[in-house]
Amino acid sequence: MNRIQNSLALCTDNEQKTWLAAACRAALAAGSLIRERYGQPHTITLKGAIDLVTETDVASEAAIVASLTADTPAIPIMTEETKASHGTTAQRLWIVDPLDGTTNFAHGFPFFAVSIALLDRGKPMVGVVYAPLLDELFHAVRGCGARLNDKAISVTAANRLVEALVATGFPYQVEETLSTVMRQMQAVLPKVRDIRRAGAAALDLAYVACGRLDGFYEMNLQPWDTAAGWLLVQEAGGMTTTFAGAPFSPFSSDILASNAVLHPQLLELIR
Ligand code: IPD
Ligand code: CA
Ligand code: CA
Repeated sequence: MNRIQNSLALCTDNEQKTWLAAACRAALAAGSLIRERYGQPHTITLKGAIDLVTETDVASEAAIVASLTADTPAIPIMTEETKASHGTTAQRLWIVDPLDGTTNFAHGFPFFAVSIALLDRGKPMVGVVYAPLLDELFHAVRGCGARLNDKAISVTAANRLVEALVATGFPYQVEETLSTVMRQMQAVLPKVRDIRRAGAAALDLAYVACGRLDGFYEMNLQPWDTAAGWLLVQEAGGMTTTFAGAPFSPFSSDILASNAVLHPQLLELIR
């Protein structure tokens, strides 16, 4: 796969190389399936009042599970649309969001991605976020940096909030979270250059990693939303914590990711 040559050359750990290749193969296969179905009519079912799932989420998940199982049969897979997998307690596991940004996808709004991460004893070893419409493959290997289509990426050097483009997201649990969302918006918006709510948390994190955003924060997220992007941001020189400033884990429900320089200032605003 010519889009991960540099990572493969730099990385000396054979297990990590295998995981990276497996994650990218699965993400590209799912991405091409998603691309083909984009703009077609969808079968939509509801998981909550505004939480959608389309036939493509399910088909993408099946493609990813088949690919990962073929390449790494011993590693269990926690994946969003298979509830039975959510309790997986294995020390080493794949964490998969087969289509992050389903609302966007269902409305033909072209901002969505596939997200695949390998966690080993709580540490992210490999993270892949693939945006099929732009054919952008973000990948990171622990200790070997982060890349976009095999070119090294890094977070921005912005050190003033007024120069920062920050993204956020609105949880599906609107009623319970509205007051916090509004309070944070009220604190952040007047201080930064602007805020984006693009609608795909995994891709928002990849955008922090490659410097298109200076920061991203959101509450009530799930492990499959953040696991891959978490490693991308770390390997690109950024910082990730909870809203309380504690070390982030994909099992934490809130995340602040930034270029590191702006982290203390953003943390103070959203706390
Ligand atoms: C959602 C997206 C969205 C975020 C939601 C997530 P889904 O994931 O990442 O940006 O605001 O909290 O659940 O449902 O499209 O996979
Ligand atoms: Ca998601
Ligand atoms: Ca999803």
